[in-house]
Amino acid sequence: MVSADEGVLVYVYRGALFKIAEGVQVPKAGSLLFCRHLELRPGERVLELGTGAGLAAVVAARAGCRVVATDVVPEAVACARENAALNGAADRVEVRLGDCYEPVAGMTFDLICTNPPQMPTPPGRDRSDPVAAADNGGVDGWEILDRAIQGAPRHLAPGGRLVFTLFAFLGQKAAMAKLEAVGLAPRVIGREVQAFPRIGYERLDHIRSVDTEGVLPRTGLPRTVERFVVQGTKPR
Ligand SMILES: C[S@@+](CC[C@H](N)C(=O)[O-])C[C@H]1O[C@@H](n2cnc3c(N)ncnc32)[C@H](O)[C@@H]1O
Repeated sequence: MVSADEGVLVYVYRGALFKIAEGVQVPKAGSLLFCRHLELRPGERVLELGTGAGLAAVVAARAGCRVVATDVVPEAVACARENAALNGAADRVEVRLGDCYEPVAGMTFDLICTNPPQMPTPPGRDRSDPVAAADNGGVDGWEILDRAIQGAPRHLAPGGRLVFTLFAFLGQKAAMAKLEAVGLAPRVIGREVQAFPRIGYERLDHIRSVDTEGVLPRTGLPRTVERFVVQGTKPR
């Protein structure tokens, strides 16, 4: 029960209203970049991994897709479910709790999309709270992304697409190679220069140590970072 003086955080996007529950990430620049580059085709089966407040899932449902949205944080699952209902999309968005592809075993989709946690996290600095789940991507930032890529061929229909966001310092070339290695044809479908994330300043030395493609300046504080939207397409 929310008492009258606790307040409710609300986010409005494309005419849809999202309540943001305690511990669930407020949509950020990366979320909007992600939503802008989702090519949504009516009738398609869409899987969103790590839905948070359910922004992309609701956008996809409103575009006529049938969506399964997952998150490993129970508060996010409840929040996304509530937001689907708030926006009249409960019949087209099914929200499931669980880790990566575990809640969709045996299912295939036309589009798998994710704006996953991908902040490189120094060894021993990971935590198990919902805020950490939204940001931390393992030591090199690739932990969840690698699993999303590895599992995609099994869960994509022929011709299906995997779409994900990527901080440039994780490596554009690495992303292309990882997609090719699992048989998905890679392509960058969106890019934007964004403010350098605040959490990144706290772990800048660590991020520099995993920036193998030399994206960040070696000295000084970066003010911006490029962010990509990457697609891997399964052959027909
Ligand atoms: C960066 S937030 C993005 C949230 C939302 N999709 C957006 O774009 O605003 C990443 C989300 O992934 C979820 N997450 C983290 N690890 C996960 C995992 N192993 N499986 C599924 N979801 C996960 C987090 O709880 C969080 O809601």
